[in-house]
Amino acid sequence: MQPVLEFNEVNKRFSAGGKAVQALDKVSFQVPPGTIFGLLGPNGAGKTTTVKAACGLVTPDSGSVTVGGCDILRQRNSALDQVAAVLEGNRNIYWRLTPRENLEFFAALRGRRPRAVKREIDDLLCLMDLAEKARTPARKLSRGMQQKLALAVALVSGAPVLLLDEPTLGLDVHTSLEIRNHLRRIAREEGRTVLVTTHDMHVVEDICAHVVIIDKGRVVANDSTQNLLRLFRFRSYDLTVGELAPDQCEALARIPHLHLEENNGSWQISLEVEDHALLWQVLDILRTRHTSIEAIRRRELNFEGVFMEILGRSET
Ligand SMILES: Nc1ncnc2c1ncn2[C@@H]1O[C@H](COP(=O)(O)OP(=O)(O)O)[C@@H](O)[C@H]1O
Ligand SMILES: [Mg+2]
Repeated sequence: MQPVLEFNEVNKRFSAGGKAVQALDKVSFQVPPGTIFGLLGPNGAGKTTTVKAACGLVTPDSGSVTVGGCDILRQRNSALDQVAAVLEGNRNIYWRLTPRENLEFFAALRGRRPRAVKREIDDLLCLMDLAEKARTPARKLSRGMQQKLALAVALVSGAPVLLLDEPTLGLDVHTSLEIRNHLRRIAREEGRTVLVTTHDMHVVEDICAHVVIIDKGRVVANDSTQNLLRLFRFRSYDLTVGELAPDQCEALARIPHLHLEENNGSWQISLEVEDHALLWQVLDILRTRHTSIEAIRRRELNFEGVFMEILGRSET
């Protein structure tokens, strides 16, 4: 399938105060239509710069960005018609206008007819829990409400591609969940494409089908969320066991990635394994003296662990 958004060897260098920063270093990736695509990376990695390059706010030094096959530099209008962006900390709303007025204004700006969007605006106000505040100026809304309004403004544009920079940053859990639900719905039901940058690994696990991880301007991972989780299938086990004899402690200490600790007559064993062989080895050592096993618990690596693992590897 033709990608809806494509970065091709994009470079961008900034200089500030005599210091040059390579914000984007040959960034290439493709976003297929109808997906929620995550862009992750630590602070300063180049996420916002990437989003800005996709909506024409940053001009690459070299390389190209296309939206729906249109080059953002050479076919700027056709490319930009297809995107709506909500940038971090810069809410795309008018403070003096009410939520409804904001939505009407921005729909009109995109050339949408008032009659055609009336129903959609009603629905959006309702979906975003803003119906009761439809007459309150945006500046008097809570931060979470303003963020939802900014998202609604992006949605009402009718643009098939949404660029959202940290859309859940600083929001409470409830609002963050609501926003995730909306994003899932517009991708699934409306076939729109969402590129979302985030620090929040819950957001990634929850809604992103695919992720690109960037670090110091470079793409260090580009895969489906499922694959990345599978790739790092480390498991941790925590065991609580009865009294251990010295020879057992010695044998256990020889197992790599195993941590042993005594705690009020019982012992805590934690270990990290890639397959089950090491766990069986531990169980064999316990069996030699019929040591009682009081508890055994398995922890799977979550996406946060995957993220740290990938960043760790890119350092070396
Ligand atoms: N307008 C700018 N002028 C100078 N440096 C910038 C500018 N915008 C971004 N940078 C630098 O580029 C790098 C990437 O920034 P950014 O894309 O905002 O990262 P992120 O969004 O991942 O935190 C950082 O080192 C940042 O300081
Ligand atoms: Mg940023």
